[in-house]
Amino acid sequence: MNLAFWKKKEHTAGQVDFQRLPRHIAVILDGNGRWAQRRGLPRTAGHKAGAETFRAIATYCRDIGLEYLTVYAFSTENWKRPKDEVETIMVLLKRYLLEAIDTMERDNVRLRFLGDMQALSQELRDLVEQCNAISDRLTGCQCNICINYGGRAEIAQGARRFAEDCAAGVVKPDDLTEETFEKYLYSAGMPSPELLIRPGGEQRLSNFLLWQCAYAEFYFTDVLWPDFSKEELHRAIAAYQRRNRRFGGVG
Ligand code: FPP
Repeated sequence: MNLAFWKKKEHTAGQVDFQRLPRHIAVILDGNGRWAQRRGLPRTAGHKAGAETFRAIATYCRDIGLEYLTVYAFSTENWKRPKDEVETIMVLLKRYLLEAIDTMERDNVRLRFLGDMQALSQELRDLVEQCNAISDRLTGCQCNICINYGGRAEIAQGARRFAEDCAAGVVKPDDLTEETFEKYLYSAGMPSPELLIRPGGEQRLSNFLLWQCAYAEFYFTDVLWPDFSKEELHRAIAAYQRRNRRFGGVG
């Protein structure tokens, strides 16, 4: 094979049809710790770099007209990490929230937080409330940041709330269908992600969007999240666009 053949292949590998974008992309922000360790830096430096990458990718997703971007920033299991690492992630989230409150109206970006917010500090919860109130007035790209999120916990809380509604006579057990149950999930009202991207080299779902990713196309890359770029995003979308999605049918 000649070089031109491989060059062309490389080129088309990242070629995106912007008229056929997925509506919703989900990303597991993985590899921050290793990115920092490889540079002889503390893991927290990786999270800072990861937050910067998130800003850049979220802005780019807005620019190309993506409707929903959902990222996994902190899981229900991440509380097991060293105290200073958890604190740094919470400080980064606070900074991000403060900045978003000032800019989201101008940028027409809606920001939502998915997960169990009860475990967060009152200060963070108040900021989340402010962001939600601003988002209610906006129409642009929706960025969902999952914090204290777990897919199983999300399904369990949905089942609990449905049971409560049954007990209160608001619904009947027979009313439970896939469609009605979705209204009890954190993602109520959003389309399911068509594409799930996991940087950082691991190939697993790690309890992320278990219900919503039933038919998502998965894209795994060894690139660590802080190094993730718009070119890498293009590669992921282009790979998704080459897939034959059959949804259990024959295509
Ligand atoms: C996973 O990488 C990353 C996290 C658990 C935290 C992600 C948090 C941020 C990027 C900061 C705040 C986020 C926003 C959106 C403002 P890892 O630490 O498990 O990496 P490793 O596998 O290399 O150790």
